[in-house]
Amino acid sequence: MKYTTIEGIRLRLSPPDTTKVHWVGQNEVLEQLLACWLVLGEGDLPLCPRLVGKPGTGKTTLAMAAAQKLNLPLYIYQCTMDTRPEDLIISPVLSEGGKIEYQASAVVSAMIEGGVCILDEGNRMSEKSWASLAPLLDHRRYVESIIAGIRIPAHPHFRCCVTMNDDASTYELPDYILSRVQPLIEIEFPPREEELEILQYCIPFAPETLLQKTVDFLQQAHQLHLDISPRDGVQMLRYILKRQKQSSASVDTLWEEAVKKIVGPEGLNLKELQKKKRTHLQNETPTQDLDELFLTNLDQLSSWISDPPPHLKKKFEELLQSEEDKDSTWDEDDWDEDEY
Ligand SMILES: Nc1ncnc2c1ncn2[C@@H]1O[C@H](COP(=O)(O)OP(=O)(O)OP(=O)(O)O)[C@@H](O)[C@H]1O
Ligand SMILES: [Mg+2]
Repeated sequence: MKYTTIEGIRLRLSPPDTTKVHWVGQNEVLEQLLACWLVLGEGDLPLCPRLVGKPGTGKTTLAMAAAQKLNLPLYIYQCTMDTRPEDLIISPVLSEGGKIEYQASAVVSAMIEGGVCILDEGNRMSEKSWASLAPLLDHRRYVESIIAGIRIPAHPHFRCCVTMNDDASTYELPDYILSRVQPLIEIEFPPREEELEILQYCIPFAPETLLQKTVDFLQQAHQLHLDISPRDGVQMLRYILKRQKQSSASVDTLWEEAVKKIVGPEGLNLKELQKKKRTHLQNETPTQDLDELFLTNLDQLSSWISDPPPHLKKKFEELLQSEEDKDSTWDEDDWDEDEY
């Protein structure tokens, strides 16, 4: 266990994460992230980008690989809805002999050690918790611990990024936070060759035919805009190979079993699954306002504009009507004859 002292307060540091990862393909996003962390000279500051993409597309792996490339110790803070501001900074813990010690979070440990901190799944965390990191994410580069009564400055080598899932909660963060976690680096599903390489890297002992079958399945899912990720592919392969050790069933039977158990029974017919997803979206009760509805269904938007589903038709009409009302209100009230 490592300790340090700041303003006379002894802090127990969290250990770094030493998991080794290997980033396959998509070199562009790796370079973008590394560029964000460059410091070009005195007066320059590193950026804290947000890595956004569907679940399982490799956001956390990318950030880990970038930290590894810089040879800096890596700290990962798993953000949740329950994360409290003090959890992100310093928490009192009971140590041997019943004494209270101050435990530095992964964020603060990275700040002190000059490491990389990944704020993982940052969109899950409340605004209140984010607010405690606001000074860290701008030119001040420090945090304040209410519990220990100290201010902790970040080491010059400290680097940070946030991973976020591509869902509605990402847009619920207030602008003053989003403006501090810039730029946005989008992680897409990989192209076929790279997806094959990812699976090969994760399961090097998988037979080629099974790898090809899994990649075909994943690529078809990506084309249909279904949320089936490389991670699902890795899990399916692992499951099939484990089941083969105890079962004499054919590969095709085990394949179907794996799809059903990992993606769900609908995964056996991806086109049908896509249709169901569409119908589900169209039948959703429109409880949200239009802005929110559009933001949560961005990939549907262009088709909706030309052919709105029944429940949206009414919303569109209401919107048009309210715009017309605004125009007519302006005509009556805002026209000042004296001015013209
Ligand atoms: N380009 C890639 N290079 C290497 N591994 C990858 C790549 N893309 C995905 N993977 C693999 O896919 C799996 C999921 O990756 P990861 O956990 O980083 O995704 P994520 O986007 O952070 O997911 P979540 O949103 O659920 O946190 C891991 O096993 C990882 O090794
Ligand atoms: Mg992740």
